[in-house]
Amino acid sequence: MLSLSKTPGRDFTVLNLTDPQLGTDEWQPGHPNGEILIGTVRELVGRVRPDLITVSGDLSWAGHDAAYDALADLLDSFSVPWAPVWGNHDNQGGPENVESVVTRYLRHPLCLYERGPRELGSGNYVIRIEEDGRPVTALVMMDSHDRDPFTDASGKETLVWARLIPEQISWYREQIRALEADGCRDSAMILHIPIYAYRTAFAAAFRDGLDPKSVSAAQSADGSVWNEGYRDSFGVLWEEICSFPGEDHVFDAIRALGSTKYVLAGHDHVNNTVIRYHGVHLVYSLKTGPGCYWDPRLNGGTALRITSEGIADVRHEYVDPSPWMPDKS
Ligand SMILES: [Fe+2]
Repeated sequence: MLSLSKTPGRDFTVLNLTDPQLGTDEWQPGHPNGEILIGTVRELVGRVRPDLITVSGDLSWAGHDAAYDALADLLDSFSVPWAPVWGNHDNQGGPENVESVVTRYLRHPLCLYERGPRELGSGNYVIRIEEDGRPVTALVMMDSHDRDPFTDASGKETLVWARLIPEQISWYREQIRALEADGCRDSAMILHIPIYAYRTAFAAAFRDGLDPKSVSAAQSADGSVWNEGYRDSFGVLWEEICSFPGEDHVFDAIRALGSTKYVLAGHDHVNNTVIRYHGVHLVYSLKTGPGCYWDPRLNGGTALRITSEGIADVRHEYVDPSPWMPDKS
């Protein structure tokens, strides 16, 4: 069990980065993608002053060991603890690649990481945030795997984005009950691939007949694109929601237990919606850097503000990447 101390009378801030995903070649000195990522993360840390940095998956591409080292060195340089969850790309290439990443994480003293039960994946663990020895909230870090087989209505089987397996939902329930036994009824779940409820929440919240791709980040914050009951939503959805296409029952467990008020996912690089759905904020974290694919208008990270009562709010911190972008003149 991992725990961090919150100073009484002062907010505890978590900065979540997502999908930095540079390959080894992009970390070479002077490579524009590396420069943009490094510049973005330094700007975020200077602005947000986090007590903890989390990364919601796709730290690099499995097999690019030097890229994992480079990102870990960058995160270490801020002298605050950091904690990763596993993305689909971190899980690829077989057990040898996964072990190589595990070994790397465990070598960094500032990296908070526990593998958790092996049968549940590469990293399922809990970080408690405590004040005066009492947990005020907890971050439940979960491995959403890579791909799963799925049979559609016509009987055709394909490989689709994976989901949390039923045993992980049981594990999540046990963690929440253990927190409750210690007086804590507040938590966030951080994972890479969004849970199925991101689809139902967006369908319920977003105004019918409007093309999500036509809505800018600024327009998304004025309430008019959201249905009654969801006017406090914000963020854009410029690509499909790439979750497992069938019901995964994760949200049923979240609602039944009543502890988790925030879910943070990454994976879809040009989505950053935040929708409060049945009292739970379903958050797409803001993409960090240009790795794999991006839109420079959606660059930065996402901050959670934690008080003595638990998680108080979530906000995107946008970073203009143009200072580090190659001169096009
Ligand atoms: Fe991904």
